[in-house]
Amino acid sequence: MRKRIVAGNWKMHKTLEEGLDLARDIRARLQGRCSEEKEVILFPPFIHLTGIAELLKGLTGFHSGGQNCHHKNEGAYTGEISASMLASSGASHVIIGHSERRKYFGEDDALLAAKTERALEAKLTPVFCCGETLEERESEKQFEVVGRQIRKALFHLPEEKIRSLHIAYEPVWAIGTGRSASPEAASEMHAFIRSEVAAQYGRKCADSLSILYGGSVKPGNAAELFAMPDIDGGLIGGASLQAADFEAIFNAL
Ligand code: PGA
Repeated sequence: MRKRIVAGNWKMHKTLEEGLDLARDIRARLQGRCSEEKEVILFPPFIHLTGIAELLKGLTGFHSGGQNCHHKNEGAYTGEISASMLASSGASHVIIGHSERRKYFGEDDALLAAKTERALEAKLTPVFCCGETLEERESEKQFEVVGRQIRKALFHLPEEKIRSLHIAYEPVWAIGTGRSASPEAASEMHAFIRSEVAAQYGRKCADSLSILYGGSVKPGNAAELFAMPDIDGGLIGGASLQAADFEAIFNAL
């Protein structure tokens, strides 16, 4: 089902206590305003997940997830967390292929395909990230790059699995830079992603997909981004660390 979603990617911020306080504050502000069609997803650091899942338990439209998972289900991989471990901590979602993972941890298309599979096996909803670098956009390769990222990591999946994930378009040059994509440029890419999915899986499947925009979404620009027809919400980094900003962005949905 296509949903409107505001998701907070906390990255490596907040101690456990600070994180639980932030989750409580967000819950107090948004409780009763989320629904099956209009969701909030919090992506805190791993160690916060159990506590946050407990705080959000039983609330409609409130979810939590991991920022990453390993591509295997278990084994001798010191320091790693598997998708099934995330699920057992109460998480329902997981971010796969964030550009910081691609850049700093060398995650490539094949690895991300495997992570997506593990996530789906664990019944988590992947939020699959794609996006081009500034250099790629300046050389007009953005459609080629994003097309490749989704085809290589996702298009081996059967249609019912595609229907159970979300995609986040996050141009790398807009992440944490204060420079968001224009609503038109973001929307053009969202329409492209949807058309690629339609070409592979049919229009109905493509229309059921939630495609989020990420990259310097703030209270001041969220409404114009979310007003675009193919933008179904946002994956928010910096502005998700303040409950008031996150609430303002949710208000723009
Ligand atoms: P930002 O990050 O909102 O701080 O640009 C977005 C993201 O990386 O998901």
